[in-house]
Amino acid sequence: MKVTVVGAGAVGATCADNIARKELATELVLLDIKEGFAEGKAQDMMQTAALLGFDTKVIGSTNDYSKTAGSDVVVITSGIPRKPGMTREELIGTNAGIVKNVCQNILQHSPNAIIIIISNPMDTMTYLALNSTGLPKNRIIGMGGILDSSRFKYQLSQQLGASPSDLNAVVIGGHGDTTMIPLIRKATWNSVPVTDFLTAEQQEKIVNDTMVGGATLTKLIGTSAWYAPGAAGAALVEAIVRDEKKLFTCCVALDGEYGQKDICMGVPVIVGKNGWEKIIDFKLNETEQAAFNKSAVAVRNMNDVLKTL
Ligand code: LAC
Repeated sequence: MKVTVVGAGAVGATCADNIARKELATELVLLDIKEGFAEGKAQDMMQTAALLGFDTKVIGSTNDYSKTAGSDVVVITSGIPRKPGMTREELIGTNAGIVKNVCQNILQHSPNAIIIIISNPMDTMTYLALNSTGLPKNRIIGMGGILDSSRFKYQLSQQLGASPSDLNAVVIGGHGDTTMIPLIRKATWNSVPVTDFLTAEQQEKIVNDTMVGGATLTKLIGTSAWYAPGAAGAALVEAIVRDEKKLFTCCVALDGEYGQKDICMGVPVIVGKNGWEKIIDFKLNETEQAAFNKSAVAVRNMNDVLKTL
């Protein structure tokens, strides 16, 4: 397996580091436009191989897409990150041009690659990648819901005093502070509904803290987070290269599922060697479906901005 990560910033490099440690690829290419940046980070990672005992060969390159040729999976993290006070949506103008260009370059050298989009605003960048490349929809996956679901489990674990890995919880909808929908009604602690253990106030706090999870970190750190986003990207790569058939929330093209069409949004999907393989119907109740529809309006408004660029 060959994997490429485009963008050697904090998220891209952390994603690559996770991929190397888990030996998810024989060859891993890290690409960046900044001279020497990806080469340096790749060498730094390779200098952990003897310590950590992995055999993945990490290669860094300054924008030479020929090095990425024949990649099975490509993770795109390129673009400017959020600064404190900025929404993911404010990045659209700059990042749209970058993501479109990266997709074209990637496909010239890896026509069969499955593409994972992490660049923000992620739902709109996924929609753009799908429409600008014309690839089969199953090969374009936006990474947001896996990250948001992991943050949701963190918030639940804090209130419950539980191990995050004992929790089952998903966030659907858009990957935005006001568009994501943590499905608390369906969240369980080793199969028991978490709502059995939490007051209404606690539930509300968990949902709210999950929704602003990324913004909270941006405020604390001064820039967008990277450990969880990088690990979430690598989890997606793992599900594809190991054909795991994992049930993850991913941003994918909807064609009537969850009542929406001509949009990419976070829904539960099966992920395996063909990319996202199937959308699973979680049977939302009326309130949840209304929240999903509202989220779709916001995502669609963002997508409309693409027409003005
Ligand atoms: C975040 C960015 C990656 O949520 O969207 O931290």
